[in-house]
Amino acid sequence: MTETVLLVGGGGREHAVARALADSDADLYACAGNRNPGIVTLTDGFQTLETTDPQAVTEYAKEVAATLAVIGPEAPLAAGVADALDEAGIYAFGPQQAEARIETDKAFQRRFMEEHNIPGCPEFETYENMEAACAYIDGYGGDLAVKPVGLTGGKGVRVIGDQCTPDEAKDYLRDSDYEGVVLEERLYGEEFTVQAFVANGEFRVSPAVQDHKRAYEGDEGPNTGGMGSYSDAALELPFMTKEDYDDAVNVLGAVVNALDDYKGVLYGQFMLTESGPRVVEFNARFGDPEAMNTLPVMNTDFLDVLVAAREDRSLPQLSFQPKATVCKYAVPDGYPTDPEAGAEVTISSEGVATAVGELTTKQSRTDQSGANASDALLYYASVDDREDGIYTTTSRSYAVVGIGDSIAAAEEIVEGVLQRAGTEGLRVRHDIGKSDLIQQRIGHMEAIRD
Ligand code: AMP
Ligand code: GLY
Repeated sequence: MTETVLLVGGGGREHAVARALADSDADLYACAGNRNPGIVTLTDGFQTLETTDPQAVTEYAKEVAATLAVIGPEAPLAAGVADALDEAGIYAFGPQQAEARIETDKAFQRRFMEEHNIPGCPEFETYENMEAACAYIDGYGGDLAVKPVGLTGGKGVRVIGDQCTPDEAKDYLRDSDYEGVVLEERLYGEEFTVQAFVANGEFRVSPAVQDHKRAYEGDEGPNTGGMGSYSDAALELPFMTKEDYDDAVNVLGAVVNALDDYKGVLYGQFMLTESGPRVVEFNARFGDPEAMNTLPVMNTDFLDVLVAAREDRSLPQLSFQPKATVCKYAVPDGYPTDPEAGAEVTISSEGVATAVGELTTKQSRTDQSGANASDALLYYASVDDREDGIYTTTSRSYAVVGIGDSIAAAEEIVEGVLQRAGTEGLRVRHDIGKSDLIQQRIGHMEAIRD
């Protein structure tokens, strides 16, 4: 039987999912709030709709006779889209609302870790009353991470001693209308992500990735949804050992054991500290950008994973190419605090597509940087494909991914594409994946472990 898969979401991560499914034996449809031109070209049908409306998504799924669904972003999970699809008999690869609380409610997440003795939990307190939270900040002897309980697009956390003073943190809470806040011990170290495919009480992991949340080079500026990321030609990253990676995988395993009905992707964000990996957070979906690092090098057919999950069968063992990847996002000027009125700016997406095309058609040759030219990928993100062109929105515009034998080779490929394409009106963190920054990460970890 040919499967019909409905993909929910229209960002870079979903473009990566679409590409992972495009080569498999499935008919692919997608729906999102924006018309992502990359996804449109890979699908048999694309519907613009409100993805947090379970009924609208389910109706479209029925209309295209979907036999499976993949939910990309967290907002539809929080809105119960997986529950509605499952209810309609369309297996959703994504957790139901109750299980998605591992991401959507940070107070639940920490209490869950405590209750189930999940390793790596920082010391924490939860508050619904902001004055009580401020009193705790006053009485606490060290630095704290201040985390609103609900979804904030990765932009709500304030770390005292890093991004703000205790007084600024208190002002932030008093000025907010957050329903609750988690205050937790500040963790020191290097962050990394491990994503797992989960179903039927089993899980399968992908290589570790390091995202760059800060808006500007040198890890300065406000937090963003993620400016870019890299992975190495191994499961672990250059600043960590295989044992660190295995410890992180054990944490994911403990979560899967404790959440019987979980299905979809479980994303662990870890801080590698002097005492090993500790948990920064869990997400209930692929990371964006992290999916763009791992899916392009996954040999295993994603459709096989989805079908096994639905059929209650054991998940296939995953295999990945031993390649490094670097992903850099081009974002509108001013992102994330004051993005340029996006609709006005036409991105030079054709230039990027041509640059990637030029590289990929020269399969056997090498580009100017000497890197293998066949491994450049373009992923569109929050752009809108209109009749008169492709426009940026107020969020990330597109990402370029390079795949190479080393992080340095992958990085050169990305820079080659960006140079050819031009990024006028857009901003890129050029430092991501450069050897200076990687060396800095290694040095940082060595100093912490000394
Ligand atoms: P989150 O939304 O939980 O991923 O947090 C956003 C960012 O805040 C993380 O990527 C970390 O850089 C930082 N962060 C969150 N929790 C902590 C913590 N306990 N200690 C240090 N930094 C943290
Ligand atoms: N890269 C961070 C996230 O997807 O939440």
